[in-house]
Amino acid sequence: MFDSFFSHSILKRAIEKKKISVGVHNLRDFTHDRHKTCDDKPFGGGPGMLMKPEPIFEAYDKLFGKKAKKRASGFRFIYMTPQGAPFMQSTARKLSKARHLAVLCGHYEGVDQRVIDKLVTDEISIGDYVLTGGEIPAMVVVDAVARLVPGVLGREESKEFESFCRNLLEYPQYTRPSIYRGLKVPSILLSGHHKEIELWRREAALKITKKRRPELLRKGERNASGDQAVGAGTGQKGHPGF
Ligand code: ADE
Repeated sequence: MFDSFFSHSILKRAIEKKKISVGVHNLRDFTHDRHKTCDDKPFGGGPGMLMKPEPIFEAYDKLFGKKAKKRASGFRFIYMTPQGAPFMQSTARKLSKARHLAVLCGHYEGVDQRVIDKLVTDEISIGDYVLTGGEIPAMVVVDAVARLVPGVLGREESKEFESFCRNLLEYPQYTRPSIYRGLKVPSILLSGHHKEIELWRREAALKITKKRRPELLRKGERNASGDQAVGAGTGQKGHPGF
């Protein structure tokens, strides 16, 4: 799963350019029994299996022991779980400032609580639904964080990054042809009037946000300090966003 994820487009280029480096580790390599057992039944009974503590503690010591000791250098051990705090753009921003991130992909019914108590610095959920494992959530986090690391995005792409600084959804966009199957692009966008286009986009962004994510507007009002305020600030090139 991770090989194909890391060997495509932006992340691939970021790794080649040494803007980020990544490693994938299999917990089974840190077991000592013939079956490479990583799970066991929960004490006290109940359905499903839990991830055993030993392979995780051993992997942690071997792979991150030194880095983890230097907490000041910004090492974080993230556990992907539906019980975690919701993953937001602000979480990605915070994590992008750390030097080393390790992501533990949960499986089965979860992990032994001692792993969480002793090793984990952040428990993160990517949404209120349950997936079969933490791999896809881990990729979501890695992708969202990596694009915030300086030099990972090209200039064209990084414009898009600017658009995620305010609590608004994106306005609708169009490209050529201006009429397709009788469907016309709003004429204002073809007018060349930059100020009016910016106004139109802001209105459109507000409208779609009000309809789909009204809570974002309330959040924007609460954070209304300079550039976070909805409808205020310069909003880089007029792009709205989170
Ligand atoms: N593992 C399974 N479901 C998950 C979710 N929604 N977020 C993070 N990790 C998960």
